[in-house]
Amino acid sequence: MRIEQAFVAGAGLMGHGIAQVLAAAGRRVDLYEPDRGRASAGRERIAANLERAVAKGRLDAAARTAILDRIAATDRLAAAAEADLVVEAVFEDEALKRALWADLDAVAPGRAIFTTNTSSISIDRLAAALAPARRPAFCGMHFFSPVPVMPLVELIRGSATDDATADAVRALAADLGKQVIVSADRPGFIVNRILMPLLAEAMRALEEGVATAEDIDAGARVGLNHPMGPLGLADFIGLDVVLGIMRVLHADLGDERFRPPRVLEELVAAGKLGQKTGAGFFAYPRS
Ligand code: CAA
Repeated sequence: MRIEQAFVAGAGLMGHGIAQVLAAAGRRVDLYEPDRGRASAGRERIAANLERAVAKGRLDAAARTAILDRIAATDRLAAAAEADLVVEAVFEDEALKRALWADLDAVAPGRAIFTTNTSSISIDRLAAALAPARRPAFCGMHFFSPVPVMPLVELIRGSATDDATADAVRALAADLGKQVIVSADRPGFIVNRILMPLLAEAMRALEEGVATAEDIDAGARVGLNHPMGPLGLADFIGLDVVLGIMRVLHADLGDERFRPPRVLEELVAAGKLGQKTGAGFFAYPRS
């Protein structure tokens, strides 16, 4: 089945990027948030991304308009009734995701493929929110931020995911220009299993006074050729998101390497969530 119509739940950092790449690959997309203003803000972010691409001469104005015309911001969950593909990209909270999946299960057509962009939560645990007959069509399709730039997707099959679903997700990822890597349904899958201990260790080095935040990040950027240092990357992902992922990994793997560092807990408690709030390990805009 070719996917023509997608429903993306969540218009934040990941959801708006996923909607953008789907629309750029010719799919029609309903971009959903329960709050209409947030859905529209997600579409506006896409418009701004596309405008930058036009300004750089990488996209012509007609293509920009065509991509935007394929994206509708909506606060109506009922729009999922038209979807060939339902993508869930809401905050990394198991109860929130499960409640949303139960609602989507009631609305979406039987043909729909269901994918979650969870970065750490068990696919089988999320699938349990769906009726048993729906579970073969459910899997993890995990994107990386910024979605239009990062050419990777993790495909995570749950124990019920069938071959037709995995094949459809592979074909879609290829259409989006993404390389697929396959992970077992284990906490954090592949990339966050590798990344979170790095971020946590950088935070602990900061706590212990090993070096300044600037020098820790310069160490990774200049000494390891990483495009961003770990503290800047955590700010970019969102410290609340990083904390949520570390908590899942720590609880599910029971390994101290994943314990959220105190400084991370404190920043999140203070509402300093990184780039999106203007402050995290660094202040934004960076001077
Ligand atoms: N949305 C769309 N495009 C963006 C963008 C955004 N938010 N940010 C940058 N870009 C584009 C720019 O338009 C530019 O495109 P062109 O080369 O075609 O002009 C390109 O990316 C490079 O941007 P810049 O020159 O402005 O900046 P840069 O060279 O410093 O690159 C970066 C920016 C791509 C973000 C780079 O710093 C990088 O790769 N950082 C690491 C990102 C990373 O590790 N992501 C994974 C995070 S983990 C995750 O997402 C999963 C999870 O579960 C937590």
